[in-house]
Amino acid sequence: MLPTATATKAAGKRGVLQICKDRRYWLLPVAGVIMLGLLSLSGFWECVTSEEGKCEARAVPAAFDAPKWLNASCPLVYQRIRTEEMQRGEARPYLMGERQRPACVNCDRDELWSHFCQFKSHGPKCPPHDQDLLFNTLLDRAKVGAPGSRELLELTPCDLFPYIRGRTLWLVGDSMMQEFMRAVQCFMYEFWDLETKQLDTLVADKEATEGLIGGWCVLLPEDSRICHVRSNMGDWLVTNLLPRFARLGALPSDIMVLNFAVWINKAGELASNVMMWAEYYERFKASLPFVIWRDASIQHFDTPTGDYKCDGCVDAKPREDETGFNCKAMDSVTLNAANELETTDPAMQVIVDGGWRNKLTLPVMKELGIPIVHTWNLSVPLWQYHHSFQEKDDCTHWCHPSGYQVWIAQMYQTLRKYRESIPPPGNWPPQSPGL
Ligand SMILES: *[C@@H]1O[C@H](CO)[C@@H](O)[C@H](O)[C@H]1NC(C)=O
Ligand SMILES: *[C@@H]1O[C@H](CO)[C@@H](O)[C@H](O)[C@H]1NC(C)=O
Repeated sequence: MLPTATATKAAGKRGVLQICKDRRYWLLPVAGVIMLGLLSLSGFWECVTSEEGKCEARAVPAAFDAPKWLNASCPLVYQRIRTEEMQRGEARPYLMGERQRPACVNCDRDELWSHFCQFKSHGPKCPPHDQDLLFNTLLDRAKVGAPGSRELLELTPCDLFPYIRGRTLWLVGDSMMQEFMRAVQCFMYEFWDLETKQLDTLVADKEATEGLIGGWCVLLPEDSRICHVRSNMGDWLVTNLLPRFARLGALPSDIMVLNFAVWINKAGELASNVMMWAEYYERFKASLPFVIWRDASIQHFDTPTGDYKCDGCVDAKPREDETGFNCKAMDSVTLNAANELETTDPAMQVIVDGGWRNKLTLPVMKELGIPIVHTWNLSVPLWQYHHSFQEKDDCTHWCHPSGYQVWIAQMYQTLRKYRESIPPPGNWPPQSPGL
């Protein structure tokens, strides 16, 4: 952060002082005082060197509303790509696989993650026409001023890194969370060596890994990691995984993004899974990582409410040629410019309300004081992207980039919103050597 004298000079390059100069002489100090007042209220200006080497002044958020541990420095340089540049067709968002600017390393490696994370090959990537469609949809959302849409387009991995620095970000849940892990590790793919480490190879306590359904980590700089642990149901979570979580290396200073829901098709069963979790959380939250709940994801099966199965629903039927299912749009539900859902069809009110699973689970999470990553509303329109998961269309999982990448932006917003509540990373404050 720059001292204010330099900051004012930098701000001057935006043309503010130029305008003042053309005015009467006295306007200059007055404008200066107003500027200083605004700066101290809204944060500081930083000088960001543009591609042509010019210094562009840019507002950075006020320091006083960020916790002390939140260190905005980043081990890599990611130039922010502006929405306007994307509108001109000159770039895509980093979330959609755009290469790191001004320079990248892993992007040019000829191997699996490099290809997949640019959504070119080696996994359930969306076909190019779907990627174009998604990109245009996201630009349209930004055009109508939908909250968070510009932030999504312009998000860089360096925005996310300060929340992961010095700790583990655990992504725990079913196959949707597993795909989300792939999305997050891809977003951060310039930060690691492109080798995923199976969790059991990282843990000395082999007993702790017994019965683990699966899990892996990617190792980021500065003692930071992103790890996924597979856990399909709430009961398995609290009886098997969480009692051994500390032995797997989880610390109270870590962050855990958690969900279970889509495996469960009966309301009573979901309720009992949620109650088991709630009781466990109340008793043991002090020893658990900081927990964030991701809401249940939407399904787009060809049934009245898109559900694959539920109490009193018609079960979805696969296509006869074994290529999977036909997915369908939620035609009578629209996402408005305020990110709210609307419908005129009373049968679809349950979708507007967040789906039956979220209606049941979210009030409990709120009661427990657990922050929520809201993905439901923004996922409702994304029905075309349920492709190629294990070579079949299944109307629950998506190809990349689509829903999961939208979730990353939502997760970032949640981390940012609740940063005052997030504990400092384990090694904070950093020890100076020799002390
Ligand atoms: C932020 O992190 C960097 C990299 O670890 C470190 O060099 C720097 O001292 C940190 N800044 C603060 C204010 O802790
Ligand atoms: C989702 O849509 C519902 C219904 O319009 C609205 O009440 C809710 O606030 C929206 N949620 C988010 C996170 O925007």
